[in-house]
Amino acid sequence: MFSEDHNRYLLLQQNQRRSCLVEKKTFLILICLILPITLFCATYMILFGIYEKLVYPKSTLNGFNTKEVITQNLHRATLYNNLKPFHNLSDIPEFGHTDAVDDNVFRLVCYYNFPSDSYSLQVKDIDPFLCTHINVAFASVHNNSINLNEVHLGYLQEVVKLKDTNKNLKILLSIGGSGNSDDFPEMVKNHTNRKTFIQSILYYVKTYGIDGIDLDWEFPSEYPDGDKNQRMHFTQLLAEIRKNISRQKNFPYLLTAAVAAPAALVDAYYDVSYMNDYVDFVNVMNYDFHFFTTTTPFTGINSPLYPLSSEKMFMSTLNINYSSHYWNYKGMEKSKIVVGLPTYGHTYRLLNPRNHEIYSPASGYGKLGFNGFASYYQICNFLQVNHITPVFDMEVLSPYASKYYEWISFDDEQSLTYKTEFIKNNQFGGAMIYCLNSDDFKGSCTMGFSGGLKFPLISTVKSVLGRTDPGAV
Ligand SMILES: *[C@@H]1O[C@H](CO)[C@@H](O)[C@H](O)[C@H]1NC(C)=O
Ligand SMILES: *[C@@H]1O[C@H](CO)[C@@H](O)[C@H](O)[C@H]1NC(C)=O
Ligand SMILES: *[C@@H]1O[C@H](CO)[C@@H](O)[C@H](O)[C@H]1NC(C)=O
Ligand SMILES: *[C@@H]1O[C@H](CO)[C@@H](O)[C@H](O)[C@H]1NC(C)=O
Repeated sequence: MFSEDHNRYLLLQQNQRRSCLVEKKTFLILICLILPITLFCATYMILFGIYEKLVYPKSTLNGFNTKEVITQNLHRATLYNNLKPFHNLSDIPEFGHTDAVDDNVFRLVCYYNFPSDSYSLQVKDIDPFLCTHINVAFASVHNNSINLNEVHLGYLQEVVKLKDTNKNLKILLSIGGSGNSDDFPEMVKNHTNRKTFIQSILYYVKTYGIDGIDLDWEFPSEYPDGDKNQRMHFTQLLAEIRKNISRQKNFPYLLTAAVAAPAALVDAYYDVSYMNDYVDFVNVMNYDFHFFTTTTPFTGINSPLYPLSSEKMFMSTLNINYSSHYWNYKGMEKSKIVVGLPTYGHTYRLLNPRNHEIYSPASGYGKLGFNGFASYYQICNFLQVNHITPVFDMEVLSPYASKYYEWISFDDEQSLTYKTEFIKNNQFGGAMIYCLNSDDFKGSCTMGFSGGLKFPLISTVKSVLGRTDPGAV
């Protein structure tokens, strides 16, 4: 009995020791496996975090890259880039270029997006003498009337006060915007609704002292299968507003429209020669010609002045030169064509970093900015921190830059100098800038001729234009 018990006791002890050993073993194995993995991950994350911080400097500036604004622009950029190639290029006459006339005056129309927080461009930081016109963006259409919330109305009133400093400055309220144009179709539909809208314009002009309105409907009869009547109704709206303006003795407000640039869209959306009779001028949105979409998965220039020599047919029409002349060819007087230029760029993620030219395969948006849009100050910081010298392409007259997987098309002082000279030499009506918010408004960028100055890009356009005079409408 006793020995049996003793044996059982020994056996029990043995088992315990064994299981203890097994536990120890498991523990050791776990330590040996998990510790290095954890350490590796931690090190990698720290290094990667530092790397990210170095490569993509955090900017305290904001304003342009608010989700709202970007989402709005995304609609247009996507639309521009999903056009079906069209063929009737043959009937566009050659345009000779005229030499600039010294005493000509040009408009410099700048869009100002409502600030979304304290890092955004504030009204007090806008130089009242920089632009001839400021388009405050965006109000919407609601219940057939102009609709602006209290906060935005406050900003509008603040912008109007800039006229106390520069009495020649014109302030326009821009209505619509890409992705914010849903209520236009209903409003333009019949005379009654349009009349209500015109009364609301008059109310804004009289109550808030604005100088005019800019209609940014993106877009009437939207391509490819929108309601064709919208285009006609839009023209009717412009005609009725013009009629109303002609009746105003004390408030002769300005009427402008922000319009699409690609020729296929001009054909689909606008009765250009009629519009010519009604608007003071149009702001041609000459940007987003190239942007990453799943159907256009390659790098491209946001706002090329001229085509690349390798671009043929349809592709050779996606540039400022073609669009500006096309608007003129369709019936808009040159002096009423205000040529749009961007202060933002587009980013791409390269498929293969070694392939980093224009038209290189891309797999998505770059990391800089948001949704493929980046402000000049972000791009400038990125280039400075990473010691990147951009490539300046002498065909499109625009720069681009890349680092590893990141690829960026943008505008700098040099490209905007060429583009502004183009406006002068061809006697167009001036330059439109989209937008004040995405220029280097703090002067944080020290690159370029005017590095360290505030609004280096818009200042460049202003100085190349020479005499700018808002009196010339
Ligand atoms: C600019 O456009 C005009 C009109 O289409 C054309 O005649 C001219 O050749 C173009 N210039 C360049 C450099 O492509
Ligand atoms: C819409 O506008 C009309 C006047 O044009 C006004 O009587 C009506 O109350 C408005 N409705 C809403 C929902 O604001
Ligand atoms: C105009 O359209 C509105 C709907 O937006 C409708 O209520 C109104 O009766 C129409 N007016 C006329 C004169 O057709
Ligand atoms: C147009 O202007 C006249 C004259 O100032 C004004 O009385 C009228 O209400 C305005 N509105 C429309 C829709 O014509």
